[in-house]
Amino acid sequence: MKLIDGKATAAQIKAEIAEEVQKIVAAGGKRPHLAAILVGHDGGSETYVKNKVLACEACGFKSTLLRFEETISEKELLAEVEKLNQDEDVDGFIVQLPLPKHISEQKVIEAIDYKKDVDGFHPINVGRMAIGLPCYISATPKGILELLKRYQIETSGKKCVVLGRSNIVGKPMAQLMMQKQYGDATVTVCHSHSLNLKKECSEADILIAAIGQPDFVTADMVKEGATVIDVGTTRVPDKTRKNGFRLNGDVKFDEVAPKCSFITPVPGGVGPMTICMLMKNTLAAGKKEIYP
Ligand code: GUN
Repeated sequence: MKLIDGKATAAQIKAEIAEEVQKIVAAGGKRPHLAAILVGHDGGSETYVKNKVLACEACGFKSTLLRFEETISEKELLAEVEKLNQDEDVDGFIVQLPLPKHISEQKVIEAIDYKKDVDGFHPINVGRMAIGLPCYISATPKGILELLKRYQIETSGKKCVVLGRSNIVGKPMAQLMMQKQYGDATVTVCHSHSLNLKKECSEADILIAAIGQPDFVTADMVKEGATVIDVGTTRVPDKTRKNGFRLNGDVKFDEVAPKCSFITPVPGGVGPMTICMLMKNTLAAGKKEIYP
């Protein structure tokens, strides 16, 4: 069994990005600039955004964090999005999700200029991704592809099972794993209403778990020699931890790991790669690589 070290891989990629930024700036080019909108004080979102700002520093990017109270109206938030669309210094930006209930996330996502949508959530980017055109690819599936590539895990012709059908992970992951230019695999998507879910999973060469249910994937669901990618990051109460919780994956790691050829841990697997791929998308935005 080989552990896939997402933390080390992400650090290496950030160093690669920082080196490229240094060259761009030394040649008189513009330092990439990522802006983030954070609404309210959700603990998870605060942590994610803080880590995104830190990652920008590590990569040599300029970053701007715009914070608003959760009383902000949808109209006001849409106006803030429009300001960032118009700001020529901002190469890309994100609106951290989830948003308060009185604001339509879909409306906000669709208000973002797709050329600055480094999260890859806008329907234009999602649609272009689905038909294999250049676009911003959402960070978690992009990070998983990068891990599979860097660990030289063969995907072409393999059976891949994606557990979960969210817009952010499950759906784009399945799309990318089936495409010739990315995974080139035979893909099955399983979800909460799937029949024979255990049997499907146990036939997978590559199992990608993204259902947000701690320890859902048990040893009897995993084929001997499979690659298991754990996207789960549920906060589980844990009195032994300083902050009172720990991050728990979707995979029962201790019993599943011995059966795998490769497995990602939680934390330190997919998580660090997600932010790193946001940095890659921001670098591409700065270089006007995808939408000149
Ligand atoms: N909330 C959870 N994951 C993400 C993400 O990748 N981007 C944004 N904007 N919000 C999120």
